[in-house]
Amino acid sequence: MPSNQSGDAKRTSLHGFWSSRMVFILAVTGSAVGLGNIWKFPYIAGQNGGGAFVLVYLFCVVLIGMPVMMSEILIGRRGRRNPVTTMALLGEEEGGSRHWQWVGGMGVLAGILILSYYSVIAGWTLGYIVKSAAGAFTGASAELIGAEFGAFVGDWRQVVLVHSLFMGLTVFVVARGVERGLEQAVKIMVPALLLLLLILLGYSMTSGHFGEGVAFMFTPDFSKLTWNSVLVALGHAFFTLSLGMGAIMAYGAYLSDETSITESSIAVVIADTFIALLAGLVIFPLVFANGLNPASGPGLVFQTLPLAFGQMPGGAFFSTIFFILLSFAAWTSALGLMEPAVAWVVEHLNRTRAQAAVMIGSLIWAIGLGSALSTNVLSNFRFLINVDTNGDGIMDAKGTIFDNIDYLTSNIMLPLGGLLIVVFAGWVMCRNSTADELGGAGASFKIWRFLARYLAPMGILFVFMKAIGILDWIVALFG
Ligand code: PFF
Repeated sequence: MPSNQSGDAKRTSLHGFWSSRMVFILAVTGSAVGLGNIWKFPYIAGQNGGGAFVLVYLFCVVLIGMPVMMSEILIGRRGRRNPVTTMALLGEEEGGSRHWQWVGGMGVLAGILILSYYSVIAGWTLGYIVKSAAGAFTGASAELIGAEFGAFVGDWRQVVLVHSLFMGLTVFVVARGVERGLEQAVKIMVPALLLLLLILLGYSMTSGHFGEGVAFMFTPDFSKLTWNSVLVALGHAFFTLSLGMGAIMAYGAYLSDETSITESSIAVVIADTFIALLAGLVIFPLVFANGLNPASGPGLVFQTLPLAFGQMPGGAFFSTIFFILLSFAAWTSALGLMEPAVAWVVEHLNRTRAQAAVMIGSLIWAIGLGSALSTNVLSNFRFLINVDTNGDGIMDAKGTIFDNIDYLTSNIMLPLGGLLIVVFAGWVMCRNSTADELGGAGASFKIWRFLARYLAPMGILFVFMKAIGILDWIVALFG
């Protein structure tokens, strides 16, 4: 297929560039490491049986996440525009069709929807900074802490307040731009987060049921694994690496031509996976030591950690620091979630970055009210997907607005976006263009191309069809 972008006529970024390779890696890691690693991974691993789920998730990260991440960065850098325009431009150049822009469009939408509920959970963490600092958990029993959590998320005024606060913080950084906003934020927050997790690991190794926690995470019991849990693992691989929605594509647009995409992707994937496993090793031993249920759902870290901290000397201090850092992790991820939409508004509607950030931020805030009210006023407004409300493994109710947006984005939109992106990079883009971006047609390129053309698309399609039941239906038809 012809590619008419010659090497010396490359487009340039309209939003500035990352100032170094290290900053790019930090920014992508900052986007990847977030609530997904510390809040979501432990409870979905808990709900899906532990070890076997973790194993499937690791496979998905390496064999599917990795090639998709490389594809997103290379597409972003080659297009150098917001994901919608980039997909339109490259679609035309490489495959003769601008329709690929719909993939970018779906990504912008997914980012808006994810941030709408992500901001609510990030808001909870802001609330928990204040509670921790006030010593609300010192010496408290599991019942008391559970009741405190219930009362907090059950009060719509508090939840809407913290959701608004978090969106305000996010808009503030995004408005300042790539170098002055995004870079400054990630340089401080990402290293700080890692340091605190290591301190907490020390605590969990000495005070938690460490062996039990390790066994839960690493002993696979495949009888607990359903096709839906495989889909959840795949969806989470996308979610945790910020893939399938153009966030990494948008970040790739600001990357210099010299930086190695393969090496940067490997660094990010390792950092993200390491932090998720670390979070699991901090949380599960504490869950078991305190007789809590690992499958208790979104409230897991908001109950286990305060309980554990409440029992230790200086716990109020550590707990405050933990929730500050969790907010930092969420904050650097929120930047990535907004970037595709903000870049689109700046380029397409000719707005300044600040105006774009306020416009998109307000829209996301409004949609987020649906999730903010899902634990209080609208908690009985349930539809579509089935959920397990008490962690006993039985789907006993329909989902709230929050549950539905989470399921739709993580398990459907991200894998679908990732599938289309990887097919575009592997099949539509000409071999020379991708080899050019990935530093020549050496061994790593060949591995990437094989994964991008065959394994990743087939893997995603298979899991999709299996989870939705299409495959069984086809087998029944011909069998
Ligand atoms: N990767 C983030 C997390 O694990 O919390 C979530 C996320 C951030 C998804 C940014 C998508 C994105 F663009």
